[in-house]
Formats: sequence, structure tokens, C-alpha cells
Amino acid sequence: MDKSNRAFVIGHPIAHSRSPLIHGHWLEEFSINGAYEKHDVHPSQLQEFLTSIRRGQWLGGNVTIPHKQALLSLVDHVTPEARQIGAANTVWAENGKLHATNTDAYGFAANLDDFAPQWRNAENSLVIGAGGASRAVIQACISAGHKTVTVVNRTEVKAKSLAEEFGCTNAAYANTLQDTHRHDVIINTTSAGMGNIPPLPINFASARADAVACDIVYSPLNTPFLVAAREHGLTTVDGIGMLIHQAVPGFEIWFTKKPQVTSELRTLLLRDLGETG
Ligand code: ATR
Repeated sequence: MDKSNRAFVIGHPIAHSRSPLIHGHWLEEFSINGAYEKHDVHPSQLQEFLTSIRRGQWLGGNVTIPHKQALLSLVDHVTPEARQIGAANTVWAENGKLHATNTDAYGFAANLDDFAPQWRNAENSLVIGAGGASRAVIQACISAGHKTVTVVNRTEVKAKSLAEEFGCTNAAYANTLQDTHRHDVIINTTSAGMGNIPPLPINFASARADAVACDIVYSPLNTPFLVAAREHGLTTVDGIGMLIHQAVPGFEIWFTKKPQVTSELRTLLLRDLGETG
């Protein structure tokens, strides 16, 4: 195989990344003689790694924690999406120049398009959390045309500054989580409910039955947030589809074929995560 027909995912640590499984599946599906490799790159080695892309040793790749913000100032061109989100997850070389974008908002929206397409007609969405992941979700809700995007967070000051930055509404954490009836789409972007972290103190009893609840966490697949929403009859969307969809634009840029997000790939990932689906 030509050494330059390779893409990568870099991070530190990187062992947990499922991206090689996704891209490996698509490479096989298209019978592409290429590779997608996982590399542990320490922040002190990032610049050197980027030089190897400029030299044509890679088509491009994905970057994850802790490089997503740093990348913005190390490439030649940053897309408006990545600039607004304040982080990049996809990089590629074009005529010796490095480009970076962020595909998380795309992945989030495409996942909801698959499982709850009515989300686009929502007037009011509620984004819970004000960390890195929430920025892509806020951007997607604004792009979908939601009239009011409300941001709440345990640490309210962070929600307030994010709401100001994106031109959204900010609401009190406790009150809003107890009174969900105003929202058509409710999204958890926090790590609450993962591992030993206690679940969100959210009350779906007042939520509308036609509301959509989405969690961007995919491990566990059935987060306490989704289980509670389902118990109250809401349409629920888990996070695994976002993980797969966010990989599509990168693959298309590097290998020039647009891959499909299939139930087969979803099952493959769930099995790898030890989930039954
Ligand atoms: P990410 O990049 O995945 O968004 P992050 O930037 O560390 O990760 O943000 C984590 C988010 O989960 C934050 O909104 C955090 O709330 P705080 O800003 O108050 O820390 C939220 N979070 C983490 N644990 C939580 C918990 N037990 N209950 C509620 N929110 C929690």
C-alpha cells in the first residue's frame, strides 16, 4: 500500500477510540487499498505530526483530546464551523496547506435526522451542559432554525457565557430541569450518568409526550437520561449515531467516497462497546 493513502486518529490517550473500527469498515466496504491508523501523539509532538501531513505522508485524519483546540492555531485554514465551536476534529492537506474542520454538529444533526426528523421543526430546544461537546450541539440547533435554544448547566456561569457567545437563552439549572414542558428537543451533553457519575436531576413528568430527548453519550447506550425520557413516552435518540455520522465527512474528504451509516455498522460498534443495542 502507498504510504500516502493513509488516514489517522491522534490523541493522548487514544486507546479507547472507536474511529479505526468505523473507517476500517468503510475502507473494506469500498475495497479501498488504504489504511486508518490510531496513534498516540503527546501534545509536545503535535507540531511534528502535522509536518508529516504537509509532507504528504497522510491524507489527513481525526484529532481528539487534548489536541482539538490546539489544532486551530496550527493549520492554515479553519472552517467557520470549527471556528465557532472552538475546536477541530478533522484535518486534511490540500496543495501543501493544512485545513481543519469540526464535524460534530453535522454528526449530531444527521443522527437526529435518522431517528427523529421532526427535531428540525422544533421551536424550543434545551441543551444541558456547557462543556466542549455542548458547543457543537448548540450550533446544530441554531442552524436547524430553532427559535429558542436554552442552555443550562450545573455551573450556571458557564451556561451564561456560552449563551451570550452563541446568542442563546440561559436558564436556571434546577428550575429548568424540573420544568421541561416548554421544550420540543431536550439534549444531554454532560457526562452525568456515565460510570459512577450520578444521573441528571431531570423530571420528564412535565415534558410533552411529543418531545424528543437525545443523549450524546454512547457508553452506556441507554443512559439514565434516555431511560427516564422513554418511561414518559418521549422519542429518544442515543449517541452512537452521532459517533458514526461525524466520521462521514472526514472519510469523504480523504478517500473521496461518501460512506453510508448503516444498521450493520451500528451493530458492529455496539458489539465492540459490549452493548446489545
Ligand atoms: P465535554 O467536552 O465532553 O463536554 P467537559 O468540557 O468537561 O466535557 O464538560 C462536561 C459537562 O458535563 C459540563 O457541562 C459539566 O458541568 P459543570 O460545568 O458544572 O462541571 C457537566 N457535568 C459533569 N458531571 C456532571 C454532573 N454530575 N451533573 C451535572 N452536570 C455534570
